[in-house]
Amino acid sequence: MFQYLQGQLYCEQVDLKTLAAQHGTPAYVYSKNAILERWHEYQRALCSIPNRVCYAVKANSNLAVLATLARAGAGFDIVSGGELFRVLKAGGDPASVVFSGVGKTANEISFALERGIHSFNCESEAEIALISQIASASGLKASIALRVNPDVNAKTHPYISTGLREHKFGVDINAAEDIYRRAALLPGITAEGVSCHIGSQLLELDPLLEAADKTLALVARLREGGLPIRFLDLGGGLGVKYRPNERNASIADFAARLRPKLESLNLTLMLEPGRSIVAEAGILLTQVLLIKRNGQKTFVIVDGAMNDLLRPALYQAHHEVTPVIEMPAETMTADVVGPVCETGDFFARDRRLPALQPGDLIALRTAGAYGFVLSSNYNSRPRPCELLIDGRRVFVARSRETFDDLMRGESLP
Ligand code: LLP
Repeated sequence: MFQYLQGQLYCEQVDLKTLAAQHGTPAYVYSKNAILERWHEYQRALCSIPNRVCYAVKANSNLAVLATLARAGAGFDIVSGGELFRVLKAGGDPASVVFSGVGKTANEISFALERGIHSFNCESEAEIALISQIASASGLKASIALRVNPDVNAKTHPYISTGLREHKFGVDINAAEDIYRRAALLPGITAEGVSCHIGSQLLELDPLLEAADKTLALVARLREGGLPIRFLDLGGGLGVKYRPNERNASIADFAARLRPKLESLNLTLMLEPGRSIVAEAGILLTQVLLIKRNGQKTFVIVDGAMNDLLRPALYQAHHEVTPVIEMPAETMTADVVGPVCETGDFFARDRRLPALQPGDLIALRTAGAYGFVLSSNYNSRPRPCELLIDGRRVFVARSRETFDDLMRGESLP
């Protein structure tokens, strides 16, 4: 959805140069139809498997993005009361919401119960007891799944790998049966699901399929023990191509390899994809302020910074740098950095780039997931606007923050 037309980069039918002139930079730009395409890819791939796909709100929680997915029939995976509030505002159906996360507060649990969410993915026995207590006090029964830790190596960045025994997430799969047995005696819950999530940005399917095998074996043991397990939630995690030569597993392959495992099990497959739905649909549009040379090094200083897009600083993540006006081949090696007072404030290091000049616009690609949601006001920088493109139409999904926004809620003593 981002491509050159006569030497200019477009998002759908909108040219990014005009967009920058009208809305300023830095700006997040999302292609609505790219998001929908990925959503439909999940739907097509899973059509012969009973399924419920719950988009992981944490990846991009803009209301317009959520509303786009809600209208397409998506369910939602949330990890906080704030995310549930957003989903409801965006018109999402609470009955298709799963509540994940390792530390839910009593208030968040009550809010979710009142709104009638589908289920809670529980990460400890103490949490199950708390949900049971809150639900039974209101005469309700909450549907729960236990998030188990299948102890598989997701082979991804250590900060976003979650499926090993030493991680804080889930409970050891070997302890799960005892927990389910005790949970079955509690008045306020029905334990009818098994869930897991082994990590994010997984480029290979094998770890995901290994987790599926291990959790399916648990489902079989629990059913033998008389528990009415109805759904298996395999979490999110499918990776995307941040580099042109990277190979990622397709949604269709994932579904094709899962299908035989699930046949005639009478089990609903749940998935919680975030990144694979929105990452490639977004860019951060930023403008070159100046070029600076220090010794051997060249720095391209842009108006976006680590407070706008944290992934390079936090995970040494790679985002392609694409000039908005098509330029001849790369002729310089430079760091692309922002104005924030931190050496970690970089978007690219020692990158081969075309001969960028002050005033040039660049797109940092694959920034639709974990981009704006991780942004902050560090250095008192107003956060960028978010623009949702649909064909020729530009929708301001979030306006650029003002200096007044920076101080909202503060007061002088
Ligand atoms: N379900 C659970 C329980 C999760 O913890 C996550 C992501 C997802 C689903 C969605 O995973 P996805 O399909 O997006 O891989 N900020 C990091 C990624 C953190 C992922 C956290 N959990 C990044 O920018 O790479």
